[in-house]
Amino acid sequence: MELWVILLCTLVSSLLGGLYVLGVFRRRRPNEPPLDKGTIPWLGHLLEFRKDSSEFLKRMQRKHGDVFTVLIGGYYFTFVMDPFCFGAIVKESRSKLDFTTSATQLVVQVFGYKPTKATHSIVHASSTKHLMGDGLTALTQATMESFRKLMLFSLSSGDKRVWKEENLFHYCYNIIFRAGYLALYGTEPARGAGNEEKAEEQDRLHSNQIFHEFRKYDRLFPRLAFAMLPPKDKREAERLKRHFWNVLSVKKVWQKDNISDWISDQDQLLAENGVPEYMRDRFMFMLLWAAQGNTGPTAFWLLLYLLKHPEALKAVRDEVDKVLRESGQEVKAGSPPVTITRDMLSRTPLLDSALEETLRLVAAPMLTRAVLEDTSLRTSSGTEFTLRKGDRLALFPHISVHMNPEIHEEPHKFKYDRFVNPDGTKKDFYRNGKKVKFVNMPWGAGVSTCPGRFFASAEMKLFVFLMLSHYDLELVNEEEEIPLLPPSHVLLLCCCYRS
Ligand code: HEM
Repeated sequence: MELWVILLCTLVSSLLGGLYVLGVFRRRRPNEPPLDKGTIPWLGHLLEFRKDSSEFLKRMQRKHGDVFTVLIGGYYFTFVMDPFCFGAIVKESRSKLDFTTSATQLVVQVFGYKPTKATHSIVHASSTKHLMGDGLTALTQATMESFRKLMLFSLSSGDKRVWKEENLFHYCYNIIFRAGYLALYGTEPARGAGNEEKAEEQDRLHSNQIFHEFRKYDRLFPRLAFAMLPPKDKREAERLKRHFWNVLSVKKVWQKDNISDWISDQDQLLAENGVPEYMRDRFMFMLLWAAQGNTGPTAFWLLLYLLKHPEALKAVRDEVDKVLRESGQEVKAGSPPVTITRDMLSRTPLLDSALEETLRLVAAPMLTRAVLEDTSLRTSSGTEFTLRKGDRLALFPHISVHMNPEIHEEPHKFKYDRFVNPDGTKKDFYRNGKKVKFVNMPWGAGVSTCPGRFFASAEMKLFVFLMLSHYDLELVNEEEEIPLLPPSHVLLLCCCYRS
């Protein structure tokens, strides 16, 4: 008899536990934001969110207002769409709103790397030292050298005024990925390859192979992050992961010449903190994705927007030409390739603004924090909400800030000089006479702000600088509307040496 009672109790409690996990008992408590669990237990709104996050969030905002909680794949996310709350959220103590919890889950799932307590501070300390300030000067130089190796090496061979067709997206992504990869992870030692020319050739070949495998992973990434891959793709993702752990293994990386201090310092610090070698191999892969997954696509959009807006193209090209002239250099057939320095890149306010405008239009990060304690949140209209412990807080600045017509006039238009005053200083933005702090958030905010943002900007600007100063550029399908997603068929005509 007693056994039956125990079995029955176990059954009932498992059933209740299951229903709890599915979200059946979750109710909105006083002061909590509106709750929308969708119609499918546990999954909630996952499918709609995955299909088009922007449209889903706009629909929810229309239905519930600026703050709402939704069930997505077993997690309750409270989205805050009021940009005037962002300052308080970003400053909230880590004991209440924590960045690392959700980031850790993603990193384990996607890269197989299990972050230790020290990881976040190691990444940020090394990035402050090597991706900013003097460190950035050296890295910009190394990136310039990679661009020379990948883009400019054929110019001196008399390959002039011959129009070539390239797929714009592929070209931008390929060149920037490879330039960044060689600058960060090092180059083939000349002594191993035989001579410098052979070593350069190997760098070109090897970086191209890495890029092609990376793109395969890149395509699987969004569904991998949501754990929604069918078995065949799952096996392919697993294969690719292992491939990268191998080609980027610390053993192989340390055999290279010219490894960036950013990579070598982080590996050394992790090793000193007791992280085993196989985990450091995985960390290398994670860094590659963080560093190279966004710069190529963003540079594609920047170049495409410039090509679609002739007045912007002319203004930015004039600026680039002026900076080049002032440095005493000239792009000319038969002359040695030009060198663009970090100092030259700091004298391009129009290019800066065009890049910022591109990021405003295309960057759509979702910033999340785990709610570790019940936390109160006051909106700009004075309503006070309680965020529930165990939930996630999420910001999606693309809708609430980047496309907000109260912050940005005609937000859907590309205005290359939106962020710059006529005298070259940065523009301020106001709403009802009050200065707005968060006007563009492509790099995230607060504790999780992208530590590579200055290097990323330098890489993309360097690439566009070289493209505009060296080539005449034309889109093949001039009349075509700007696409919503990177198309495979946007073509570029490029010609060595400008006429
Ligand atoms: C257009 C280019 C880039 C964009 C739009 C971008 C954007 C971002 C964003 C939004 C985050 C924060 C994610 C979050 O809060 O969850 C982030 C994190 C990060 N980014 Fe970037 N990034 C870019 C390029 C780079 C580059 C070039 C590097 C390094 C060389 C880099 C290194 C990192 C790292 C290591 C993190 C994780 C930081 C942490 O754990 O706190 N990023 N990036």
